[in-house]
Order: sequence, then structure tokens, then C-alpha cells
Amino acid sequence: MVDVDTHEDDRHEEWTAPPSRGLFRTKSIEQSIADTEDPEHGLRKSLSTVDLVVYGVGVIVGTGIFVVTGAVAKQYAGPAVALAFIASAVVCGLAALCYAEFASTVPVAGSAYTFGYASIGELPAWIIGWDLVLELALGAGVVSGGWSGYVAELLSHFGIDVPARLSHRGGHFGFDILAAGLVLVLTGVVMAGMKLSARVTGVVVAVKVTVVLVVIFAGLFFITGSNYHPFLPPSRPNPGGGSHLHAPLVQVLFGFTPTSFGVMGVFSAAAVVFFAFIGFDIVATAAEETRNPQRDMPRGIIGSLVVCTVLYVAVSLVVTGMQKYSRLDTAAPLASAFKSVGAPFWSGLISFGAAVGLTSVVMILLLGQTRVFFAMSRDGLLPRAFSQVHPKFGTPYRTTVLLGVVVAAISGFFSVGALEEMVNIGTLFAFVVVAVGVVVLRRTRPDLPRAFRAPWVPVLPVLSVCASLWLMLNLSVETWLRFAVWMLLGLAVYFGYGRSHSRLGLGPGR
Ligand code: ALA
Repeated sequence: MVDVDTHEDDRHEEWTAPPSRGLFRTKSIEQSIADTEDPEHGLRKSLSTVDLVVYGVGVIVGTGIFVVTGAVAKQYAGPAVALAFIASAVVCGLAALCYAEFASTVPVAGSAYTFGYASIGELPAWIIGWDLVLELALGAGVVSGGWSGYVAELLSHFGIDVPARLSHRGGHFGFDILAAGLVLVLTGVVMAGMKLSARVTGVVVAVKVTVVLVVIFAGLFFITGSNYHPFLPPSRPNPGGGSHLHAPLVQVLFGFTPTSFGVMGVFSAAAVVFFAFIGFDIVATAAEETRNPQRDMPRGIIGSLVVCTVLYVAVSLVVTGMQKYSRLDTAAPLASAFKSVGAPFWSGLISFGAAVGLTSVVMILLLGQTRVFFAMSRDGLLPRAFSQVHPKFGTPYRTTVLLGVVVAAISGFFSVGALEEMVNIGTLFAFVVVAVGVVVLRRTRPDLPRAFRAPWVPVLPVLSVCASLWLMLNLSVETWLRFAVWMLLGLAVYFGYGRSHSRLGLGPGR
């Protein structure tokens, strides 16, 4: 213990920032990296590029492609859902270049939060950390709900029916026991350590990618050309258009009649299928646990994004070619497309693969959220006790258990549809902050070594901000209101606790 204390003193002597009360006080990059070398509060470095791509694909491919594709094709875009995936991928690609630059410059746990702290200041960093907790915790809740649906479907094949009170099926109020149980089990896996998590993830990702490839290649034989006509169905008034709460903000702001399909429909679809890409940003949260972050981070982030885009476009083209978009199932569209062409074997296999595949998404979302919370606690913005690392597992066990129980409750009480757009708006907001941060840090710290430099700065980050904002505007008014409430709550916590307990604000030696 004495050694640990001495080390802490040494570290604080390296800090040069004077105590500051400012809302825009920033934590130096050197300070962030020094924190990771503290044995009591630092994570083990064990991941390579391949681990990162596996990790990326593990969290990216999930409910988005297995569930959301069907509903979006049916309600917003028809077969042009493939174009919506491309539009979303462009937004993510711009953001990925910014994320890759920051992750290779600031290889510390906490992703956009840490980056915001180093570039723009403490209050924006707090806002982004609070926002990331929303994205990751609700994301884990949404995906575990989707998983529970598939498992219930599989169980019914064996004559086992989950009672309505223990699921959300049929619109009944209930507690989704399968979803909550999954979250608790995976919390245990995450607590047991990063390497174990990566190994479990590897097997699951292999099953999931195999199933996606089966959909693409087996599905090719069942495509009927006429299902692609019309490829971009003409726009028509939105059935939910009567209520402004459910209309996209952009249509309400500019006084359009809310519509589905047509060109605007593709953008609405892009804002929703964006969920399918969430995860590549989470790869950045593992920077501190990466062996050579300067080289592996950009490769890991961009590599996983490219793999997923190719898979999504192919799957959506195949599925809308197999079954008329208006008849696609909204709960299990991939499996039901195979059922509709008289191929029940493939349908069962796909359901199984989806159930296996969604577990890794939940696990990595849980992992990402514990790392952000950990980083915020290490900085004193949340109680320091949460950043204590387990002596044997090397993981932030207190944070993991606390958040695991909260997410289990969320996934038990709320159904998928209620939370999904909230996850999208939170993530897009994080993209905006990261892009701004890249420009700010280039100006304030041009001297920092950057293994990966995003091209065309500041044009590219500005484009990234505009593209992310555009997708945000295509989300519903209701989603914007809920997001505002969450953010106000976050400000209350910051001014009530974080601002006065911040290690940066308290100064050296605290
Ligand atoms: N991208 C992840 C999914 O689609 C969150 O499930």
C-alpha cells in the first residue's frame, strides 16, 4: 500500500494545471495517460487490432440488422432501406475518422468523455459522459429486449411459452425476465475480466457473422425481381403524422406535412437504422486496454465499420428482394423472409444465430458503459469509490455491478421500441462533440503526437457535425424532449456533486 501511495504522489507532481473552478477547465493529455499507469486505478493492456475488429463487429451487428431493417423498410423506405444504410454509413464514416484521430491521440478509457475533457473542457466532458451512459445503458436494454424476443420464439418451437407477465409480448405490462436475466449473467462475465470477455465474444461473433453470410448467400436463390419495384416508393402522408410528437423534428420545424417513403423517407430511415452502426465508437472506449493504440485503434475502428456496412447493404437488398417490403415482419424480418419463401430450416437457423449474436452486443455495451462511468469516477466527477479496480480481475467491479443491476431493471421494465431512438440521439450528439474536439485540440495542442490524423481538418469535422445534426433532426420531437430531460438531470448532478469533487478542480494531490 505504501508503494501505491508513493506512486500517487509522484504522479501528482507531474501535473502542471493549477486548481481551477472554471466550467471549461481541461485535463491535459499527459495527465490522462498518467492516470492509466496508476496500478490501483489502471486497466490491463491486452488487445490487438484483430481483437478490436472482432470487438467492433461483436457490438455493431445486432438488433439493427436482425430486427430494425424490417420495420424501417415497411414504414419508411421500402427496398431503398439499402440506401438508408449507405447514408448512415457515410455519417458514421465521417465520425469514425474523427474518433480514430482522438483514440490514437488519447488512448485512455472513457472514449468521447476523456477526449472532451482534454479538448473542450470539464462541463462539456461531463455532458458527453452523461450522454454516453444514456447511449450505452439504454442500448444494452434495447438489445437484451430484442434477444429475449428471439429466445422466446425459439422456446416456443419446443413447446415452452414464456408467460405474458414475464415478457412484453402482446402489449401486456410485464417484467421481461429473460432480458433482465441475460444482463445479470453478462455483468458477471464482464466483471471477470477483459480477456475472458474477448474470448467469449470471439465465438459469438463467429456464429453471428456466419448466420449473416447464410442470409446473404442462401437468400440470393430466393430473390424475385418484382419485389424491387418500386425501389423507392413514392412519398405519402405519415399515418402517425396527426401527432407532432411522433413526427421528425425537421418536418415540424419547417412546417412540412410529415411523410413516409420518398427521399425524405430515406433520411428518416437512415436516422433509425443508424442504430445498426452504433458500436464502432465503443471500440474507442477500449483504447486503454489496447497494446499499441496508436496503430491498432484507427485500424480497429475503421475496419469494423467497413465490414458491417458491406454486410448490411447486402442483407437489406437480399431480404427486400425475397419478400415484398410491405409484407416484411417487424419482429424477426430475416427469419420470416425465409419462412415466406418456404425455407423453414434456414429460418430456424437464423433465429438461433440472432439469439446467440445479440448476446455479444449486450455484453460489449455493458463493458463500454462501465469504462465511461469508471473514467468519470476516476476524475472525481462521480464518487471515487466506483473507480476501484478489483485486485484479481483488474476490472472496475463496483461500477460493473451497480450499472449491471440498473440495466437489468431497465431491460425488465421497458420494451425495445420505447428506447431505441433515445440511443440514436445520444450517440449522434457524442459524434458532434468529438468532431468539434478534434478541431479544438489541433489548435490548442498541435504538438501532440497523432499516429492517425483525420484528413481535411477542419472541413471533414465540420461535415461530420452537419451530417450528425441532420440525422438528429430526422428523429421525432418526442425523442428530443426525452433527451432534453435526461440532459437537465445530468446538469443537476454535475452542479450538485461533480463540480465540487472534481480532482482537476481540487488541484494536485487530491
Ligand atoms: N449496433 C447495435 C445493434 O444493432 C447496437 O444492435
